[in-house]
Amino acid sequence: MIVRVFATPDQLARALARDIARCLAKHPRLVLGLPTGRTPIPLYNELSRLYDSGRIDLSRATTFNLDEFVGVSSNDPRSYHTFMREHLFARVKLRRTNVLDGAAADLDRECERYERAIARAGGIDVQILGLGANGHIGFNEPASALHARTHRTRLRPATRRANAFLFGGRASAVPREALSMGMATILHARRAVLIATGAAKAPCVERMIKGPVTPMVPASFLQLHRHAEVWLDRVAAVRL
Ligand code: GLP
Repeated sequence: MIVRVFATPDQLARALARDIARCLAKHPRLVLGLPTGRTPIPLYNELSRLYDSGRIDLSRATTFNLDEFVGVSSNDPRSYHTFMREHLFARVKLRRTNVLDGAAADLDRECERYERAIARAGGIDVQILGLGANGHIGFNEPASALHARTHRTRLRPATRRANAFLFGGRASAVPREALSMGMATILHARRAVLIATGAAKAPCVERMIKGPVTPMVPASFLQLHRHAEVWLDRVAAVRL
């Protein structure tokens, strides 16, 4: 894995936004995998700034988000879809966005539809990932076995607490289930870039990079990827 360390989260965000802009200049039809959570917010701000100053063209790109809560419709203010609209989709010209529908009548079909859509788009070129403090990526939670493909999953209490900020600060209001791209969906991306910032992520960053590949730390599977990068701020990297 390639590890890059930046002084601050903002410097990381600026460098990654410029990197994405360069990829788009070379491949306007880039297929981007996108995360939610607090970590990518500076990146989305930076992409919006580049867009405003005419330095990035996302108009022919396609995006696929990693996950969504079950039972939360796309226009619900607490959905990841709304999060993406607020932080990115409404701020840049981006026509082909894809987010799982957590309120679909048939969730298994919705997962299959999503896998087909990714395949039809030619697969994901650059998958940006956040890191759950318990080692999850997307909503692939630590478990004795992991799902390969997009699936319905149960959220751990720690993950519901981490997402409480979207639900008025109440972990009990966070849905118990979610839809998520699977490990193979993520690992089949041509390039994976995991971003983690803040001191709270340091222990997990250490286990992901230096520990064994284990389903108890789903992010550790990135060690098996041909082109995985981990971009950190200084405090997230202290244990390396
Ligand atoms: C959620 C998302 C993950 C994300 C994680 C980390 O659980 N499903 O994709 O990486 O949160 O969130 P944060 O960036 O807020 O620490």
